Amino acid sequence: MKMDKKLTDQILEQHVSQDVTWQQSKVHAEERANLLHVEPATVWLTGLSGSGKSTLAFELERRLIAGGHLVYVLDGDNIRHGLSRDLGFSPQDRTENIRRVAEVAKLFNEAGMLIITSFISPYREDRELARAIIGRERFIETYLCTSLQVCEQRDPKGLYQKVRDGKIQEFTGISAPYEIPESPEVTLDTGRLSITESVACIMQQLTPRLH
Ligand code: ADX
Repeated sequence: MKMDKKLTDQILEQHVSQDVTWQQSKVHAEERANLLHVEPATVWLTGLSGSGKSTLAFELERRLIAGGHLVYVLDGDNIRHGLSRDLGFSPQDRTENIRRVAEVAKLFNEAGMLIITSFISPYREDRELARAIIGRERFIETYLCTSLQVCEQRDPKGLYQKVRDGKIQEFTGISAPYEIPESPEVTLDTGRLSITESVACIMQQLTPRLH
């Protein structure tokens, strides 16, 4: 455990400035979503590096777009090129990374769109924070339970080799923790399932939201 529930609540309530007032739009989120024929949601992919999050995210995105549904992927490596370029991999930086991404996903959902996120998001409290920010009814936690052994064998970015060579510190699954989700909406072992099968499992969850 990285932080207690209280700290999660504190993060939700933190404001640097007190002199800001919420401004209310005259359009309800539902009205925008109706234009796009979708009940917005965030498919939150979590799992070790190499578990197949990005591959699955982009395949699912392809499938949804082909079906005429507007969707966008927020991917860990990509977000760290821009929005989170100032963050590293300490527990605090990962919390801030996940908080920012959850806020962005929430905005996209409010704008009426489906979102797929692809982040290791190794801490349970951070994922719960994301669930609280995005909203429970819109959050589809999807755990890629692919074993460390399979991820290490795949090593698509050569990072596990770099860890073995002592070139990367605090690497999730080796020298930094990964806290297994307790009750994810979907669990997928990409070591056993094909990409098509994994996409189909998530589509099953999404179908009632697509009109
Ligand atoms: S998270 O922990 O904050 O959710 P995020 O998904 O954004 O991580 O970024 C993970 C990606 O950064 C990995 O896919 C990997 O390519 C790269 N990376 C670089 N250093 C590390 C590290 N120490 N631990 C985990 N991933 C790392």
